[in-house]
Amino acid sequence: MFDYLIKNANLPGQKNAVDIAIKDGCFAAIEQTINGPAKKELDVSGCLVTPPFVDSHFHLDAPLTLGMPRHNQSGTLLEGIQLWSELKPELTAKAIRQRALKLLNWSIAKGTLVIRTHVDITDPSLLAVDVLLEVRKEMAEWVDIQLTAFPQDGLLRTPGGKELLIRALDKGVDVVGGIPHFERTMQEGSKSISWLLEIAESRGLLVDMHCDESDDPHSRHIEHLTFETQRMGLGGRVAASHLTSMHSMDDYYVSKLLPLMAESGIQAICNPLINIHLQGRHDSYPKRRGLTRVPELLESGVNVAFGHDCVMDPWYPMGSHDMLEVAHMGGHCLQMMGATQIPTLLKMVTTRSAEVLNLKGYGIEVGNQADCVVLQAADALEALRLKPARLYVFRKGKIIASTPQVKSTVQLGNSVQEVTFQQADLNSNEYLDFHNQQETGTIS
Ligand code: FE2
Repeated sequence: MFDYLIKNANLPGQKNAVDIAIKDGCFAAIEQTINGPAKKELDVSGCLVTPPFVDSHFHLDAPLTLGMPRHNQSGTLLEGIQLWSELKPELTAKAIRQRALKLLNWSIAKGTLVIRTHVDITDPSLLAVDVLLEVRKEMAEWVDIQLTAFPQDGLLRTPGGKELLIRALDKGVDVVGGIPHFERTMQEGSKSISWLLEIAESRGLLVDMHCDESDDPHSRHIEHLTFETQRMGLGGRVAASHLTSMHSMDDYYVSKLLPLMAESGIQAICNPLINIHLQGRHDSYPKRRGLTRVPELLESGVNVAFGHDCVMDPWYPMGSHDMLEVAHMGGHCLQMMGATQIPTLLKMVTTRSAEVLNLKGYGIEVGNQADCVVLQAADALEALRLKPARLYVFRKGKIIASTPQVKSTVQLGNSVQEVTFQQADLNSNEYLDFHNQQETGTIS
């Protein structure tokens, strides 16, 4: 007897719908037809079922602080950092906790069940660290949180920065962070990278650094981070977030850099919503997009994930922690709308992101924890195009969030028609042909 039987599920990249059986919180069987018996059965009629969304880059100490104490008028990263430093002394444990919990409800409702969050460790009280460690524990049943020790004001630039970072790790923060481009000089940035990687290596921790979040083509900390990753054999364990300066670098230099990055095993995180909003702010016209070179990184064999980064905070006034919105923006700003690129966009908020976080037992496979999202969409293209309702969010085999199916109708005189926003009717031959071609990348 299964606990749950999900019938007629479309899985990403697969041609034919399958049935998914769940027992004791795990996927028990995934086959063309499963006849049960099951305590509960759910026919999803060809809807796409994905693994939960994984946000590889977020700041859970800052969301929902928009307008506190004022709005970011220039829209620059630097004014955001200034605003945050004005807000920091006013933060209370209660307010951080309440905002984080509220945001996590948004995340769960959108099917984002794994989040790597940075937490600012340059506040000498480490207040946010303590709060988020508690929140991680309190919410562990429903969402997995990785905490990264992030020296927002600079590791070496902050008095006692190294000690604060060590204290945060001692308290149980999982990942070593950094911000080399915000140190006082390039040399100081390099020094911070070497020190941070040595700490990570000695403690067996992962690394995720804000790296070169700048439009300055000479911000080349990625070179040193790649070198140190290679030297210490930390491939697969180090991620470089943002890398926006790569957008503006000389092509010749990048042609040398990309193979070195691939060889080292370093991974990259692009934050499309925030990068398109914050970068290029010092330009007149033309204004650079500022996103790192995602198609070229992928082509070179470097794994890339997408992160949301911010929701309604000093850096970004919008967002609802919807990773499909992130992938949608990425598809536009990176010009990644080719037939094979669209499924890749979805992977960058699911499987590729899980790889960056070194997740074990992630994905819709027999034996894994039964976490998945049923979308009101048939395939990757529809999921990205419509950013549809998350009909059901499963965690450990139980539904922990749901959204009613969204239906639209138009009334034209006496004619009332349903609008599905689909190119052809679901389950029609025309539709299925298109879906299969799209998933297999055979349409141009
Ligand atoms: Fe960030």
